[in-house]
Amino acid sequence: EKGYKKVEISSKEHLAVSLAYDVAQLSNKFTRERGAFTVVLSGGSLIKYLRKLLEPPYIDSIEWSKWHVFWVDERVVPKDNLDSNYKLAYDGFLSKVTIPPVNVYAIDDALAADGAADVYETTLKRLVKSNVIDTSTRGFPKFDLMLLGMGPDGHVASLFPGHPLLKEDKKWVTFIRDSPKPPPERITFTIPVINSSSNIAMVVTGEGKANAVNSALEDHEKTDKLPVELVSPEGEWKWYLDVGAASKLFKE
Ligand code: 6PG
Repeated sequence: EKGYKKVEISSKEHLAVSLAYDVAQLSNKFTRERGAFTVVLSGGSLIKYLRKLLEPPYIDSIEWSKWHVFWVDERVVPKDNLDSNYKLAYDGFLSKVTIPPVNVYAIDDALAADGAADVYETTLKRLVKSNVIDTSTRGFPKFDLMLLGMGPDGHVASLFPGHPLLKEDKKWVTFIRDSPKPPPERITFTIPVINSSSNIAMVVTGEGKANAVNSALEDHEKTDKLPVELVSPEGEWKWYLDVGAASKLFKE
């Protein structure tokens, strides 16, 4: 019942090479087809794996002016705080490419969690209306590419195991004040928005993730699903795993 998945297992270096190649292909495709490329970033090590895009041939061939950048989750901290996902992405990636600043949709750090989530959802609605962001058949925003990491506990975005927000089926963007991983206050996309994506790239490395990778990729009947097991995109889903993260796959 889960969607079609592609899985690539390689070294961390090669994983970054594949990811850059795939992101560039998708950028070309959507820029050609839609005149825009909507990309959703995450925090964690993901940004590091995107840095191949800062090298030739990609740095010169990608139409950066067509990119529109969003965040799947953000910590409720000032943008210049070391915990900010915006800062991580800006310092390591966005400051080195020529994406127009108006196309970079940071989550507002001047607002409290609830207000920032509402304002972000309003921004997404405006961009759906003007066709910058595509729409799914169920009326959710359909991002061209969502780049996700996964925690060792199987969390994706700021959706943590057993949290009631996993059941949210109406809101696009919401917030938590009780994250088990600090900082406690966070803004996050909901499962239906994640699942409406045209493409999901899931970048997972390290042995600490091996058990959660197993649960996600091997189909077993379970009632208590991990957040990552609720991900089932309408579009294409590719996993980029290093040898550590894949170390428990295909074993009994
Ligand atoms: C957070 C982190 C977290 C991260 C995953 C994977 O908000 O606490 O950003 O959600 O994306 O834990 O991170 P790594 O790829 O760095 O392990």
